[in-house]
Order: sequence, then C-alpha cells, then structure tokens
Amino acid sequence: MSQPDPKLLEEISQLRADLDSANYRYYVLDEPQLTDADYDRKLQRLKRLEAENPSLISADSPTQRVGAAPAEGFPAVAHAIPMLSLDNAFSREDIIAFAERVAERLECEPDDIEFSCEPKLDGAAVSLVYEQGVLVIGATRGDGRTGEGITSNLRTLRSVPLKLMGGSIPDLLEVRGEVIMRHTGFEALNERAREEGSKVFANPRNAAAGSLRQLDPRITATRPLEFHAYQAARLEPDMGDASHSALMARLSTLGFRTSAELTILHGPDAVTDYCEQLGEKRDQLGYDIDGVVIKVNDLRHQRELGFVARAPRWAVAFKFPAQEEVTTLNDVEFQVGRTGAITPVARLEPVTVAGVTVSNATLHNADEIERLGVMMGDTVAIRRAGDVIPQVVRVDTEKRPPDARAIIFPDSCPVCGSEIERLEGEAVARCSGGLYCAAQRKEALKHFASRKALDVDGLGVKLIEQLVDLDWVKTPADLFYLSVEQLQSLPRMGEKSATNLVNALETAKSTTLARFIYALGIREVGEATAVNLASHFGALKALQDADQTALESVSDVGPIVAAHVHTFFRQPHNIETLQALLEAGITWQESEVTQGPTPLEGQTWVLTGTLDTMTRDEGKARLQALGAKVAGSVSRKTTCLVAGEAAGSKLIKAEQLGVEVIDEATFITRLADWEQS
Ligand code: IVH
Repeated sequence: MSQPDPKLLEEISQLRADLDSANYRYYVLDEPQLTDADYDRKLQRLKRLEAENPSLISADSPTQRVGAAPAEGFPAVAHAIPMLSLDNAFSREDIIAFAERVAERLECEPDDIEFSCEPKLDGAAVSLVYEQGVLVIGATRGDGRTGEGITSNLRTLRSVPLKLMGGSIPDLLEVRGEVIMRHTGFEALNERAREEGSKVFANPRNAAAGSLRQLDPRITATRPLEFHAYQAARLEPDMGDASHSALMARLSTLGFRTSAELTILHGPDAVTDYCEQLGEKRDQLGYDIDGVVIKVNDLRHQRELGFVARAPRWAVAFKFPAQEEVTTLNDVEFQVGRTGAITPVARLEPVTVAGVTVSNATLHNADEIERLGVMMGDTVAIRRAGDVIPQVVRVDTEKRPPDARAIIFPDSCPVCGSEIERLEGEAVARCSGGLYCAAQRKEALKHFASRKALDVDGLGVKLIEQLVDLDWVKTPADLFYLSVEQLQSLPRMGEKSATNLVNALETAKSTTLARFIYALGIREVGEATAVNLASHFGALKALQDADQTALESVSDVGPIVAAHVHTFFRQPHNIETLQALLEAGITWQESEVTQGPTPLEGQTWVLTGTLDTMTRDEGKARLQALGAKVAGSVSRKTTCLVAGEAAGSKLIKAEQLGVEVIDEATFITRLADWEQS
C-alpha cells in the first residue's frame, strides 16, 4: 500500500484544526471567527479529500458529526459513578441550614466555607466519556445508575468536542452537564412544528430531552441544542486541581462551555444574595434555569463530606418558583393582528407564574386548540418563561366540569365580518378584509406611528382607535390631513394637544428610508431588515422594482421575506397608499447604493447596554452595512465596544483587555461620518 502524500495529510489536518477551532469559537465562546461561507468551503473541501481517501477518515473528524445511520434502539450504558440528584432548598433558612450542616462536619464556621454557585440549568443531564482525548461514549442520566447510549446524537452538537483541545490531554475524562435549548431556538422549533402539524414540545426541557432521544441522529442535528458542562466526574490522571472552580476552568480549556455565571462566595449570606440576584436575572438569560446549584468548592472538603443516599452532602439545589402553574380557562377571544392573522387568546383566572400575574395566554391557532383538546372551563397548565408570551401547555381533562364548552373558531372576522381564510398548508387563519377591517387598520396605524417607525409623538393607541372608529383615518396618509379644529373636537383633546399632534405629524414627515420601509408594515420586515433593504437599494424606486433574486441578495433576506416584499409592492392598494404618503409630503434623503465602500471591513464590533436613539439590532445592521462583523462578546479581537446605558460585564472585560470603548453619542457621530463618506 502506498503511503499517503504528506502534503495531503498536512492539508487534512489543517482543515480539521481550522474547523474545530471555528466550532469552538462559535458554539462555546460565542465569538464567531470564520464567516459561514468560509466554514462551508473548508468543510466541503475536507469532505472531498476524505471521500477521495476514505482510509484517512477518523471518527473525530468534523465531517463525522452526522455520520451514523438511524439506530434500532439505544444501548444501556452503566455509569461508572452514579449520576446523583441534589437535595433541594427553597428559602434563605434552608440555605443557612445547609451551610451549618456542612460547617459542622468540616468543623469550621459557615462563613468560612467557600461555595461555588452557578445556575441550575433546566435541560437534560448527560455524561460524556473521553479516552485519550477522544469522545467514546455519550449517555443520558437514566435512573442514575444506567443510562441510554446516545453517542451518535450527542456527536451532532457542535458544543460537544469530538476531541479535547489544548496541550495536556487526560487519559480518561468523564464530563457531565446539561443539554439545553435556548428560548429562541425552542420557539422557532415549535413554530415550525405548528406549521407542519408535527409534535409541539411543552417546554425547552422536553424539547431537549426529546431531541436527544431521536433514533435518527440527522434529526438531532437540526435541533438547536447546547451542552453546558458542570462536573468532571472522572479525571485520570489527577491533574492537581484543588477545587470545583479550578476543574471548571480546566474543562473550559479542554473545549467545553461552562457557566459564565459561576461565582465563588463565602458563607450563606453571600450565597443567598447571589440566589436573589440570579432570580432577578432569570428572565433575561434566554434559557430556562430552575434554580442555583450551590457546591462546596474545595474538592478535599467534598470528599470529606461524601454522600447520603442519592445526593451529595457537599451540594444543594436552591429552587426558584415554578414557571408552570395551573388555572382555569374562562373564555377565549379571537384577536385580529396587523396582517389579519386571527389569534385565539385564552382568558384565564389570574394566576401568579414565577412572580408575574398572568391572565391571558396565547392558544396560537385552530390546530393548537385541537392538539391540546382544550375547552372553555378546563383546568389548564400555563407556562411563562422570559419574554415569551404565556402559553397553555396542557389540559387536565379529568378536572373538566360538566358545563365545559367547545371552542369554536369563527368563520368570519369578529371585527369586520369579512370571511376568514386559511390557505392550504398554513396554520394561520386570516381575516380577508385587509384595510377594510378596522382591527387591521388600527394595528397598521399603531405600527406606522410607533417609535421605531415614523415616531409620531402624541399619537397613542387610544387616539388611533378613536380616529379609526370615527372613520376619519382609513390609511396612514389620512393622518397628515387631520386639522387642529377637527382634532380639538375630540373628547379630552384641547387646542394645545391638537396643535402638538399636528406639529408632530409635520415633523414625522421627514424621516429615513429605513424607517419608512419599516413603517409600511410589510410581513416579516422588522427594523433590522428594513435597514438592510434601505442601505442595499438606497432608493424606494429601486426597492419597488427589485425582483425576487435581487431581494434575496440583501443581507439577512431569505426567500420568504423576499416574497413578502415583492408581493407587497405589487398590490394596487399598497401602491396607492405609497403614492398618497408621498403626496402628503413624506420625505427622506435618498442615498447612493452603499455596496461600494465598506470602511469597517475586517473589524469586529460589540454592542452592549441600552442605546437611546436606536435599538441594538439597528446599530448592528448599520455596522454590518459598513462591512463590520458584530459579535456577541468581547475578546482581544474586538475592535471597538459601544457601551450604552447600564453596560455590565462586557464593558469590564473590554477595559481589562484594553479594547476601545465608545459611548452612544460618539457612535452616532462616527456612523454618520462613515455612512456619508
Ligand atoms: S451538579 C452530584 N450543577 O440538576 C450531582 N447539576 O438534581 C451534581 N443540574 O440531574 C450535579 N444544572 O442535571 C449540577 N450547574 C449544575 C446543574 C445541575 C442542572 C441538574 C443535573 C441533575 C440535577 C440534580
């Protein structure tokens, strides 16, 4: 057999190293390094070289993440060390009692104990075994002693290293952690499932567990899963780490994602404060946590404390209030949105869910009502997490009262009486009334006048509803013909407010192309897309004339958005409205197409904190239009950090690394300079 060409070996090994490093940067550090196109190019090249030289394929090659064929079932995997559970703490007193128990055994004072605290992730627990640095087994927790071997599925997660990184690779490592799904990924997965009529998951934990237990790894590969390490259960040889936090730092250098919230604290008071603060931050993390895991940090102390029954004495789980509660569904109302979409909204007996009173929840659409099998009067489980709208996730049919009533989806719009249409293959039913429908008109006007659109000061929701109900305003253009006298005749509207509103409408007439595009309320065109469309086409006419292909060449615009934009500009009533708006005097500065100069090419920017004059998405889109990359976290490679109001850890990190930091005012001035040059 001939020896492989050393140059080929060198190229293959370089491609693998580049792809591993890109994965690590993207999925573990949140600091993208390669563009998607570069990543794909390298992966394709590696796939080709491996296809031509099959003997060079190795199991830890980045091409082998989705290699396995569907399984018949999962093999049993005995855990070398049982995967234990944790005792729970629900109050400050419980935390103090835990610290006192630990102190008594260690013969010290509670305040002297070093605790390592981190979020208790609400996902699926798994264990990963590495031999000589290569992933050999991945398993679920199962009953704690025996789990299911789901190695092929875990290999598809790009935050699971197929081979360990760095210089000192242990002979044996067993890492444990949680596989989670972020809220954004979970919502998108369920949205897709609702559209396709496939399985909808009640919460991200079920979605993560269900995705891991797919017999076909290709399905797992499409699910937005992330592995977060929280324990090194076996490490051979011992590498001299004296504490849990040191072990976590080691796992991080070996290529794992560990908690960015991990904090070392002394004594129960500091721990309680941490639990309280994390509880307040819980809604902003973007993924579900159900508490805080408090661990004795010193590994010698952990060994000394040992275990009782199924839980270690050196750790406790402080539990937050549940994100699911049970209540009664009193009624269902059908709301009409801006695009005519009819959404059934559950009116609930008010209930406190994770500290917030919930009295409404979405039922999404007719299919969802059918899937849940829910009736009015039913006892239902409500889930609220982060910014996600509260949802009805389950029905307790055993508690159904005899007078429960069926939920009938209407055939005609509850607002304008127009027929309700449901297109073939679409889950959403829509009112066919368009701007004839007062509900759609009201929503369209609210959107048009909103802060990120034309930003008409003083034109609030109530006033818009009055104007539509009186039939004074049928299209957004009618707003600009309202007179002070007319407005003054409205209840609670004095001459001063009427004059202010007319002036505000006058001011709003000079705007930007991006705001104008956003204000039109084209389906799926949010603020960031509007900015991209505006900077790509430069002029309204060019955007109006663009065909599907031209639209798809705009950054972040895919076929669906392109189709919505294309269709919008071809509807006679939209063309009329546009014409009327221009005749009413709306103007903006049209610019040349900005595809040419990209002064920020090669730079990486980070935005943090709250900006006053624009959203972070808008700032991001404007930076991208100038050629910059916009990252989610600060590193040595960051060119500049824009720090808005209440900037936190990113600002500190930038200062430590000596990265340039600018405030919003400087940012705006620089943007304006670059955009004009
Ligand atoms: S440490 C000896 N740390 O909580 C047990 N567990 O009730 C050590 N969990 O099934 C576990 N986040 O899956 C630990 N940061 C974290 C965790 C965590 C979630 C889960 C774990 C386990 C359950 C324990």
